[in-house]
Amino acid sequence: MKFTALLSAIILGALSSQAAAQDTTASTRYQLSVETQLPGVVYPTLMFANGSAYIGNIKYNTYSEPLLLSGLNPQYGNGFTSFHSSPTGWQTFFVYENQTRPISFTVPHSAYIPAGAATTGFGVFDGNFKLQSNGKISEKWIACQVSKAATPYDSWQILWNGEGKTMDNCKDVKLIARKETC
Ligand SMILES: *[C@@H]1O[C@H](CO)[C@@H](O)[C@H](O)[C@H]1NC(C)=O
Ligand SMILES: *[C@@H]1O[C@H](CO)[C@@H](O)[C@H](O)[C@H]1NC(C)=O
Repeated sequence: MKFTALLSAIILGALSSQAAAQDTTASTRYQLSVETQLPGVVYPTLMFANGSAYIGNIKYNTYSEPLLLSGLNPQYGNGFTSFHSSPTGWQTFFVYENQTRPISFTVPHSAYIPAGAATTGFGVFDGNFKLQSNGKISEKWIACQVSKAATPYDSWQILWNGEGKTMDNCKDVKLIARKETC
């Protein structure tokens, strides 16, 4: 009996120190990566460029920068601040839930959210970055190869395939979120 009590005290102690070790500061930022192997891609971490999200060698374009999201609580929107935007400012990550369109961001300093946009519901479910909406959790991420005319580097743009389209040069992908380490 005594031994059991001691044991549970130890377990409780371990659990609470684990909880304390969790970083709950508002400044925590997350990096998204594509977990699916894609031709020509050695750098699977999402980059922000031209108001959208890409992976691959687009990182060598000076107009790109790592996409670092704050939040990842499904109840709230996920913010991103680009140092390429002028003026710089918080932009909210969104997808058009029922459309097949690239990952998008609101305009800095604007509260405007387009019709059909899902800004909340994003989070990590069963290890992957997914969207929860109306009680349903889905991951309709696809990566589409960017033409050499748009960037000379091998790059793929990340879209939300809300219409379930089958498209040439696109592949279903899974995204994972990691706490930024730097
Ligand atoms: C997308 O479609 C579902 C199912 O028809 C609907 O419940 C949901 O409200 C739609 N979302 C948006 C943002 O229009
Ligand atoms: C980003 O925008 C620049 C300037 O408009 C353009 O030249 C470039 O092709 C765009 N990059 C991609 C990947 O679309």
